[in-house]
Amino acid sequence: MLTIAVSKGRIYEETLPLLAEAGITPIDDPKKCRKLILQTSRDDVQLVIIRATDVPTFVEYGAADLGIAGKDVLLEHGADSLYEPLDLNIACCRLMTAAHKDAPEQRGRIRVATKYVKIAQSYFASKGIQAEIIKLYGSMELAPLVGLADCIVDLVDTGNTLKANDLEPRELIMNISSRLVVNKAAMKMKHAAIAALLSQFEQTLAKR
Ligand code: ATP
Ligand code: PRP
Repeated sequence: MLTIAVSKGRIYEETLPLLAEAGITPIDDPKKCRKLILQTSRDDVQLVIIRATDVPTFVEYGAADLGIAGKDVLLEHGADSLYEPLDLNIACCRLMTAAHKDAPEQRGRIRVATKYVKIAQSYFASKGIQAEIIKLYGSMELAPLVGLADCIVDLVDTGNTLKANDLEPRELIMNISSRLVVNKAAMKMKHAAIAALLSQFEQTLAKR
């Protein structure tokens, strides 16, 4: 049995066509049922539906053999303990700094709100900027509006969320896409099955 960890929402939606090309169709729809383990059209493949930020943990501990997670989540988790064989080129966005559109470039020590504490720390350190990082779990865009932080580090796609909150993107930290990750022991123990799945994904991606 191969267990694949996927998060609900955009990654799940964008993963479905890739799975379908590999002959894997979930029997249930996670939007309509509360099941967390989804059987599929293939007897040897099941999906576990978890929070995006939990995917590296499940795969690292072998609770899932494979997982699909954003590069943002993998970097923040510190994913040295996982194989990351494939960029799936889905859920693409940018990790950026952003600030109020009228805010001048900040000098000296700054306060930064983000859920990406480690990434933000190393980014500002690499620029020689002293940053106090404030960990939030969501709605980062609010922080500069209420004086909690000078700027944020968050994901930007269309830019609509920033715009709707009078913020603007400032600096690109990195381009983000979702990656297939594999548990190291599973890569050895279930090599044939995992290699076959990888090659099916690769073929689908090559056609895009
Ligand atoms: P959690 O539930 O663990 O807090 P989340 O709410 O961030 O995670 P999603 O919003 O589904 O979960 O995001 C999952 C991944 O999709 C992110 O880690 C990122 O790689 C990518 N992503 C997030 N926002 C966007 C976006 N607006 N456009 C494209 N990709 C995005
Ligand atoms: C993500 C991200 C931004 C938004 C950016 O949030 O945290 O808020 O997308 O996308 P945009 O540039 O196209 O507006 P998401 O939609 O995942 O909602 P969340 O706050 O529930 O994570």
